[in-house]
Amino acid sequence: MNLILLGAPGAGKGTQAKAIVEKYGIPQISTGDMLREAVAKGTELGKKAKEYMDAGKLVPDEVVIGIVKDRLQEKDTEKGFILDGFPRTLAQAEALDKMLSELGKNIDAVVNVTVPEEEVVKRIVNRRSCKNCGAVYHLIYKPPKEEGKCDKCGGELYLRDDDKEETVRDRYSVYRSQTEPLIDYYGKKGLVKDVDGTKSIDEVTADVLKILDAL
Ligand code: AP5
Repeated sequence: MNLILLGAPGAGKGTQAKAIVEKYGIPQISTGDMLREAVAKGTELGKKAKEYMDAGKLVPDEVVIGIVKDRLQEKDTEKGFILDGFPRTLAQAEALDKMLSELGKNIDAVVNVTVPEEEVVKRIVNRRSCKNCGAVYHLIYKPPKEEGKCDKCGGELYLRDDDKEETVRDRYSVYRSQTEPLIDYYGKKGLVKDVDGTKSIDEVTADVLKILDAL
C-alpha cells in the first residue's frame, strides 16, 4: 500500500503514520525527520536545510525531491510506504509522479487530516519529541509518564526549534499557500480521503485504519 499523508503542520500526520506502520508494517518516510537528522549530524544537507526550517519555510524542492528519490529506491519500500510531509508543493507532486512511474508504482490513497489553525498552534507549542528515538508526545493530550523523559527509550524530550508559536503560524501560512493546492491535485485523481483530525488521537487512528482497510 502506497500512501501520502497530507495535512497542516501539527495536524497529526506523524502520529497517525506511526499507527499505520504498526498495523501494516510499511515504512514511514518523513521528510521532516530526515531533514532534522541531517541537521543533527551537521551534514551538508543539514546545513543547507537548517535556515529554511528554523524560519518555517520550505526547503528547496530539488533538495527534498533528491532525498525522497533515494529513499524510494530502498528495499523496505517494496511492499509499500507512507509519505509523511511529502509532497508539499505542486513541483514535488509532479516529481513524485515521475519517480513512481519510473518505479512502476502508484499512490493508492492520499489521507488528508484536517485541523483548524488555532488547534494546530495549541498542539505544536505543547509537543515534545524524543531526541533519541523521535517518539512524539503532547503535554496535555499525550503526556509522557515521567516529565521530560521518553516512555519508550528514556531519551530526553525537547521542543523542536521550529515549534515556537510565531514560526508555527508562518508554517501554517506556507501550508495554506503551497501545500493545500495538492488536495485539489490529488482530488482530481480521485485519491483524497478526508479525515477529521480534531477528534482524539485514537478516534482519528480508528477512522484512518477504517479507510485503509477498505482500500
Ligand atoms: P515536518 O517535520 O514535516 O513538519 P510539519 O508538516 O510541519 O508537521 P509536524 O511534524 O509539525 O506535525 P504532524 O502533522 O506530524 O503532527 P504530530 O503527529 O507531530 O517539517 C518540518 C520542516 O521541514 C518544514 O517546515 C520544512 O522546513 C521542512 N520540510 C519537511 N518536508 C518538506 C518538504 N516536503 N518540502 C520542503 N520542506 C520540507 O502531532 C502534533 C502534536 O499534536 C503532537 O504533540 C501530538 O501528540 C499531538 N496530536 C496529534 N494528533 C492529535 C489529536 N488527534 N488530538 C490531540 N493531539 C494530537
